[in-house]
Amino acid sequence: MIEQLEQIERQALGELESIQDDEALQRWKVNHLGRSSPLMKTFDGLGKLTKEERPIIGRRANEVKRSLEAAFEERNQGLRQVAIQRALAAERLDVSLPGRPAWRGRLHPTTQTLREMYRVLGEMGFQVYLSREVESDEMNFQLLNFPPNHPAREMQDSFYVDTGTQRGDNPILLRTHTSPGQIRAMREFAALNPQDPPPVRIILPGMCFRYEQITYRSEMQFNQLEGLAVGRQITMGDLKGTLSDFARRMFGQQVRSRFRASHFPFTEPSAEMDIECFVCGGEGCQVCKRSGWLEILGCGMVHPVVLRNGGYDPERYSGFAFGMGPERITMLRHKIEDIRYFWANDPRFLEQF
Ligand code: DAH
Repeated sequence: MIEQLEQIERQALGELESIQDDEALQRWKVNHLGRSSPLMKTFDGLGKLTKEERPIIGRRANEVKRSLEAAFEERNQGLRQVAIQRALAAERLDVSLPGRPAWRGRLHPTTQTLREMYRVLGEMGFQVYLSREVESDEMNFQLLNFPPNHPAREMQDSFYVDTGTQRGDNPILLRTHTSPGQIRAMREFAALNPQDPPPVRIILPGMCFRYEQITYRSEMQFNQLEGLAVGRQITMGDLKGTLSDFARRMFGQQVRSRFRASHFPFTEPSAEMDIECFVCGGEGCQVCKRSGWLEILGCGMVHPVVLRNGGYDPERYSGFAFGMGPERITMLRHKIEDIRYFWANDPRFLEQF
């Protein structure tokens, strides 16, 4: 009997040595300390022994039981320690490791130019008005005094969203300029008081789209910043004064500007404004193509037809408008030679600003 108990103990302790995981340990416990293990069976059989044998075998069986229980506990603790060590090792942090450099974002150069324009024109009393990028032919052209088939449309080849076959002669297109926002804004303002519409002082920034061959000087997607002032007795003098002042605040107090006659269907008269080349100071260089001047915007007095289409009576109201290209101005300022950089998303370009 004693011999059998020794054998049970040896066998169990031997098996325990090779156990490496909790599952195997639990199985070991069932096998060696469970209800139907040889050891427990020995306890069950104690009643059949003689009076003399019973205490000796009983004591020994209890010793083996305690010894197995203690061995189990020890192994259990050991496995838990190993698990903890592993988890700690996996989570180890080397606090002396140099950090990874954090990449700092920055504003796109066009956004920087636009924000400067908002600041300058904001100080001069203009508020930003956001208008939609998807427009109707009516808004983008007709109400701005481009009749269907007018040759001025040629300059603004369009992306059509639908061909207009179900919409008469009013197809949907991506706006080719920010000017349709003039009509939307005037109509919204006029609706506030149709008999006596309030004055308008707004700038309209945003993306425009033209079906252009992409080259170093033209993209099919670009920003414009439109300006519109409507009120009583606004004159060409107001236009010239406002835009010359804008040029000085934007490009430097000493910068001179000039106006040249031009043509746009939605303004009459129309002009283009040049500023003295800020690269060479007017001497003539590559940026200004030796002329000493840089063209920066189109402008004019709002055409009476456009005022009426916006809900403003041209007998009582007048106004001026202007439109410019922030990418173009950014290119001039930084002597960027290719407009395609603006959309290439190349950090080597973007990081320079
Ligand atoms: N809409 C014109 C264009 O895309 C730019 C422009 C010119 C806007 C004169 C104006 C303006 O408001 O008065 O080419």
